[in-house]
Amino acid sequence: MNITIIGTGNVGGALAAAFKKAGHTVILGVRNPVGPFKGKELADRLSLPVHGISEAISKSEVIVLATPAPIAAEVAKSLGDVHDKVIIDTMNAVFTKPEGYNNTAEAILANCNCTDVVKCFNTTGFENMLNPIYNGEGIDMFVAGSSEKGKKIAMQLSKDIGFSHCWDFGGNDKFTLIEQMAGCWINLAIIQKHGRGMAFKVVKRG
Ligand SMILES: NC(=O)c1ccc[n+]([C@@H]2O[C@H](COP(=O)([O-])OP(=O)(O)OC[C@H]3O[C@@H](n4cnc5c(N)ncnc54)[C@H](OP(=O)(O)O)[C@@H]3O)[C@@H](O)[C@H]2O)c1
Repeated sequence: MNITIIGTGNVGGALAAAFKKAGHTVILGVRNPVGPFKGKELADRLSLPVHGISEAISKSEVIVLATPAPIAAEVAKSLGDVHDKVIIDTMNAVFTKPEGYNNTAEAILANCNCTDVVKCFNTTGFENMLNPIYNGEGIDMFVAGSSEKGKKIAMQLSKDIGFSHCWDFGGNDKFTLIEQMAGCWINLAIIQKHGRGMAFKVVKRG
């Protein structure tokens, strides 16, 4: 799969490395490809192609957004024509919401022409995206959104990079809930000081 990543910091960089390791073609989309940007060292090390945003978007069917949450609407506007893409939103408006919206995916849907927007890879720390294995077993991932096509792709990608199961949270009405799940991880890992080396796994009888 060709995957373009916009926002090449902690999360974008971790997913870029993990997707590439899983055999996908990863393209980085940055505001200034010749200037300094987060992820430059990673791009050089992994020989990842780096382009301006619209060119990077044109090269992939799947777009991952991992920029700061408050600017989700502005980033969505900068994408150009994305009517035939799947957008995976990894952002969390846990502390500051994009102005006028309840969550980042809502801001994306309202500010670009993509209808296949799902939220995934937002409920855990970036270190767990690079290495989702605990005690020999994959931790779980979660996805929300009304796009079945988008959810199928996000679920496949989460398995490809080592997550055990990707639980379907439901449709677009669950965007805020899945951001709140990220808030739970942030609370335990950072605010309650249990450390970033922790993760969620669902257990089920039968
Ligand atoms: N950190 C985590 O463990 C974690 C886990 C789950 C979800 N998240 C969510 O993931 C998102 C990214 O977090 P992060 O920790 O990866 O942040 P980060 O390391 O600060 O990276 C942010 C990236 O966004 C880019 N960016 C900023 N404004 C942009 C714009 N207008 N257009 C295109 N790119 C832009 C930055 O580019 P430059 O390099 O040019 O500045 C940088 O590459 C946040 O919304 C966060 O809530 C974070």
